[in-house]
Amino acid sequence: MSGAAKIPVIVTDIVPLNGLVTRFAFKRADGGLLPTFSGGAHTVVEMRDGDITRMNPYSLMSDPMDQTAYTISVRRDDQGRGGSLFMHQKVKVGDAMTISYPVNLFSLDLRAKKHLFLAGGIGITPFLAQIKQLERLNGRWELHYASRNKSLGSYVDMLTDRHPNETHIYYDDEGQAIDLKHLLDGQPLGTHVYVCGPKGMIDWVRKTAQDEGWPREAIHYEEFLAPKPGKPFEVKLAVSNKIIQVGEQESLLEAMERSGVDAPYLCRGGACGQCETDVIDYTGNFIHRDHWLEQADHASGRKIMPCVSRFEGKTLVLDR
Ligand code: FES
Repeated sequence: MSGAAKIPVIVTDIVPLNGLVTRFAFKRADGGLLPTFSGGAHTVVEMRDGDITRMNPYSLMSDPMDQTAYTISVRRDDQGRGGSLFMHQKVKVGDAMTISYPVNLFSLDLRAKKHLFLAGGIGITPFLAQIKQLERLNGRWELHYASRNKSLGSYVDMLTDRHPNETHIYYDDEGQAIDLKHLLDGQPLGTHVYVCGPKGMIDWVRKTAQDEGWPREAIHYEEFLAPKPGKPFEVKLAVSNKIIQVGEQESLLEAMERSGVDAPYLCRGGACGQCETDVIDYTGNFIHRDHWLEQADHASGRKIMPCVSRFEGKTLVLDR
């Protein structure tokens, strides 16, 4: 079966946190317990909006050992394809929804002597669960959290109240910035760095840490790309013997699912590699948006990641 197994849930709580971010809580629809997870895990939330089913990944931010409810925070994206707007505008307390079992692509490396967390904006959410996990393990950690301004700093008060010594907050509009080079240089040997936030921040942290000589395995990041709209295109699926149309607002993966093809996925954001698909034939250009394939794979025209990448041209035949 594609993706992780599914769990029917009920929405039990909706709390707007600020102008952009709303928190949602889910309990199992059958009243049972949810699986435990590890900090950094995400769930894929299915949103049925008329004829369209969107499936967006969201980091779980609740206590990983709390089996009574899961919580996520959703940042509204007015320019996106509608998933976050659906969550903000249409979902109500008491609604039945479906989420996936937790999948972790951003887990803590528990061999680390210390965990250095760098968060930007809504990228704070996986760290909330990781912090709860580390509290239980008496792990050593430190958080540096940058937000555009005070009003958009989700969970700042809770973090600074509960963890005043570990939490460091930076507001862009007050000219505060993480002194990254200095911060990395001052860490004890055996520290691992984790970053989640906008792409620019992730690239900056990865590059700076690499330039400072941090080992690759001590640098962790999570970046799910939301699929972008684009021109409609046609695809032939050789194994399923189907010709499908990919609409302007849907991803290639979603179009396959709509046509009844059970395509594999985990992250739906170009990061996990699960949806990698071989190209059999094409005439046209790929719009590769994943960060899973190597540049050489992109250039070869032999592979595509249907969760985020698109195609423009005459013919595309996939081995699916
Ligand atoms: S589902 Fe993870 S890369 Fe496509």
